[in-house]
Amino acid sequence: MVINKICCIGAGYVGGPTCSVIALKCPDIVVTVVDLSKERIGQWNSDKLPIYEPGLDNVVKQCRGKNLFFSNDINTAIKEADLIFISVNTPTKTFGNGKGRAADLKYVESAARMIADVATGNKIVVEKSTVPVRAAESIMNILRANHRPGVSYQILSNPEFLAEGTAVDDLLNADRVLIGGEDTPEGHDAIEKLCWVYEHWINRSKILTTNTWSSELSKLAANAFLAQRISSINSLSAVCESTGADISEVARAVGLDSRIGPKFLQASVGFGGSCFQKDILNLVYICECLNLPEVAAYWQQVITMNEYQKSRFSAKVIESLFNTVTDKQIAMLGFAFKKDTGDTRESPAITVATTLLDEGAKLHIYDPKVEPSQIMDDLTHPVITEEPEKVKKAVSIYDDPYSATKGTHAIVLCTEWDEFKTLDFQRIYNGMMKPAYVFDGRKILDHDALVRIGFQVQTIGKRLARPSLARIWGSCNQI
Ligand code: UDX
Ligand code: UDX
Repeated sequence: MVINKICCIGAGYVGGPTCSVIALKCPDIVVTVVDLSKERIGQWNSDKLPIYEPGLDNVVKQCRGKNLFFSNDINTAIKEADLIFISVNTPTKTFGNGKGRAADLKYVESAARMIADVATGNKIVVEKSTVPVRAAESIMNILRANHRPGVSYQILSNPEFLAEGTAVDDLLNADRVLIGGEDTPEGHDAIEKLCWVYEHWINRSKILTTNTWSSELSKLAANAFLAQRISSINSLSAVCESTGADISEVARAVGLDSRIGPKFLQASVGFGGSCFQKDILNLVYICECLNLPEVAAYWQQVITMNEYQKSRFSAKVIESLFNTVTDKQIAMLGFAFKKDTGDTRESPAITVATTLLDEGAKLHIYDPKVEPSQIMDDLTHPVITEEPEKVKKAVSIYDDPYSATKGTHAIVLCTEWDEFKTLDFQRIYNGMMKPAYVFDGRKILDHDALVRIGFQVQTIGKRLARPSLARIWGSCNQI
C-alpha cells in the first residue's frame, strides 16, 4: 500500500483530533493538517491547543514535528499528499434556497476547487465532513470538470463518528469505521488503501465498506437516531413531571431491555452540539426535496421536541421564581453543550440564558472550560439579540462556582460537569438569597441532600419534595 502522505483540509474539532490519532498510530505516514485560519494553525502549533479534548495534548505532543504538522500552506500539502481528507465545516444555510435547513456546502466546494487547482498525480479525496447524500458527486463533478492531464481522482466517503469530550478514546477504540466508494476496480483500490491506514490500529472486522451514498446517509442516520432517543426520553420527562414518575427510573427500566440498551437515554435540558440539529435539519431538507413529506415531518419532530424541552426548562425557572426574574441574580453553572468540552455550539445554555436575559435577569455564569469571550460572543450574537450592550451589562462571568453563586436567587445548572457534583452546597446555600433555588437541567446533583440543606430544587423528569417553609424563612434571617 502506498499512502505515504496525508493532508487534511480543516483543523477543527473533527480534522485536528482525527489526524492527530492517525499520526500517532501510523508512524510511517506523514500527516499535515491545513487550515485557512492562521490563528487556528498557530494554536495547534502552540502549547494551548484551540480545542479542549481530554488526552489530545498528549497525542499531539508525541507526534507534532515528527510525522504530524499543522500548516497554512494548503497548496503544498495538497500537492504532496496521496490522500486528502476534507474536514471543513458544513453549517446550516442562513440564506437562500433551503435557508435554516440545508447544509451549506460552500466550504466543501472551495476545498474541492483548491484540490482541482493544484493537484498532480493520483489523489484519493475523502469526505470527512458530514454532508448531504450525493455530495461526493458534486466534489467529483468539480474535480473532473477541471481535469488536467496526468491527474486522477477517487472520491471516498469516510464519516467521522467521534463525540466531543471523548474524541481521542472514540478514535482509538472506534465501534466501527465506515468507508464508502465507487463500485469500480479503481474505487475498490482506493477503499483498500484507506482501510490499510485504519488497519494500523482498528481490527478489519470493524471496518465497514459500502457504496458512497450508503456511507453518506449512514452518518446522518446515526446522528438522527441518537438525537431521536434523547428527544424520546425528554418527551417522557414531561409526563413524569406531571404524574410523579421518575424519568431516571423509567430510563433504567426501558434501557435494561437488551434490544433497547441504556445509552443516550439521559433526559436533559435538551441536546446541543454542532451536529445533531444541523444533521437532522439536513435530513429533513433532503426528504422534502425527495418529495417525502411524511418522512421529513417525522424527523422534524425530533428537533421540535428539543426546542420544547429547552423552553419548558426555561419557563419552569421563571415560573418557580414567582413568575418574574426581572433584576433577579441567577447563577448559571455550565455553558458548554456537554461536559469535557469547551465547545458551545448550539448549547442549550444559550437558549436558557437568552430567555432569562429577555425577562430581565442578571446572569452570573461559570464554566470550567469555556472562554469568557466565547460566552459573550454567543450571548451578543446578532441572531440572538438586538441589544448587545444591554446583554453585556446583565452578564458577569466568573472563574469559580462559589463567587458565581454568591448573592444569587437561583442556580441553573446547564452542563453536567463532574466538578458540580462535589461542590460544597452548604457553603453555596449560606451565600445565596433565600429562598434559594436550584434548577438541575442535567439531573446530576444529590437532590435529597440539597433539599435537606434548605434549597428549593427542581429537576428534569421528577417532582421533588420541598423543604418546609419554616426552614426556608428561618434561614432567610441568616442573610
Ligand atoms: C465540521 C462540521 O461541523 C462537521 O459536520 C463535519 O463532520 C466536520 O467539519 P468541525 O471540525 O467541528 O466539524 O468544524 P470546525 O471546528 O468549524 O472546523 C472546520 C475548520 O475548517 C475551521 O478551522 C476552518 O477555518 C477550516 N476551513 C473552513 C478551511 O480551512 N477552509 C475553508 O474553506 C473552510
Ligand atoms: C455527536 C455524536 O454522538 C457523534 O457520533 C457524531 O460524530 C457527532 O455528534 P457530540 O455532539 O460531540 O457527538 O456529543 P454527544 O455525546 O452525542 O452529545 C450531544 C448532545 O446530546 C449533548 O448536548 C449531550 O449533553 C446530549 N445528550 C447526550 C443528552 O442530553 N442525553 C444523552 O443521553 C446523551
